[in-house]
Amino acid sequence: MNIVDEIKKIKEKKNAIILAHNYQLPEIQDIADFVGDSLELAKKATEIKQASLIVFCGVRFMAETAKILNPEKKVLLPAFDAGCLLADMAKVEDVMKLKEKNPGVPVVSYVNTSAEVKAISDVCCTSANAPKVVKNIPSDRVIFLPDKNLGYFVQKHVPEKQLILWDGYCFVHRQFTIQDLKSAREKHPDAEIIVHPECDPEIQDGADYVLSTSGMLKRAAQSQAKKFIIGTEEGLIHRLKTENPDKEFFSLGAARICFNMKKTTLEKLKECLEKETNEIVLSNEIIRKARSALEEMIKYA
Ligand code: 13P
Ligand code: SF4
Repeated sequence: MNIVDEIKKIKEKKNAIILAHNYQLPEIQDIADFVGDSLELAKKATEIKQASLIVFCGVRFMAETAKILNPEKKVLLPAFDAGCLLADMAKVEDVMKLKEKNPGVPVVSYVNTSAEVKAISDVCCTSANAPKVVKNIPSDRVIFLPDKNLGYFVQKHVPEKQLILWDGYCFVHRQFTIQDLKSAREKHPDAEIIVHPECDPEIQDGADYVLSTSGMLKRAAQSQAKKFIIGTEEGLIHRLKTENPDKEFFSLGAARICFNMKKTTLEKLKECLEKETNEIVLSNEIIRKARSALEEMIKYA
């Protein structure tokens, strides 16, 4: 039996479900029960009634989000050291200091934050719903963290609110350059250029669309264009190609890789599932408070 069949067999026996983020390796996406962006995966986690075990192929903050929304279930993270450098940029003590400096101003945290930071936030958001969440919050001023570029995108769409931005960024998305944009336009003048809101402001301003990973998938399926230049982590291109075999997809410049997203391998997934190791454990208090911020997100979005 090959490793894929072995994983499927253990999964069935244990009544487990495998969730994978759009940036995971192709073989991990192919074996998952559900592949999606962080919002879709968070929602999916709440809809899974039948499975008692969730194996999360992604990075830590995503698995923590699944645990927060499913406290009664066991959530495993096969690549236990897979963190997010952006999430690591917002530390609880620094967020507390900013809150103290701005009393009464609500904190909106991107899901790319630790469970502890979510627990001291008022509302969460994802790249798919951030402008809507900020727009609907009943406050003129909002602390927005940790991604400054996503903050720029939100501010552009919600000019009536004053955003206090955190100085965080995603090292993967910051690698796209103006030169990448120029070369792509010259080489593929008929292509649509779609970038993630974690890209720098000038990249967002020069693109045709600024969308979350799920937004990119929707746009590619609906558009009349046959060619697309994609400004996000290269893992999404596998899904775009699989779902749109008649269309062409190219990375904006060289393929940009999130090494943490590539830490999940079939071997690690099998071992984790078999031995039920790498469990995400959070205190009841953190779960309760972080869950409130996630529920507020669903309310405002
Ligand atoms: P999405 O919310 O679009 O899935 O993005 C998550 C992420 O980590 C982007 O780098
Ligand atoms: Fe974090 Fe960037 Fe990797 Fe997304 S791509 S998980 S934001 S480091």
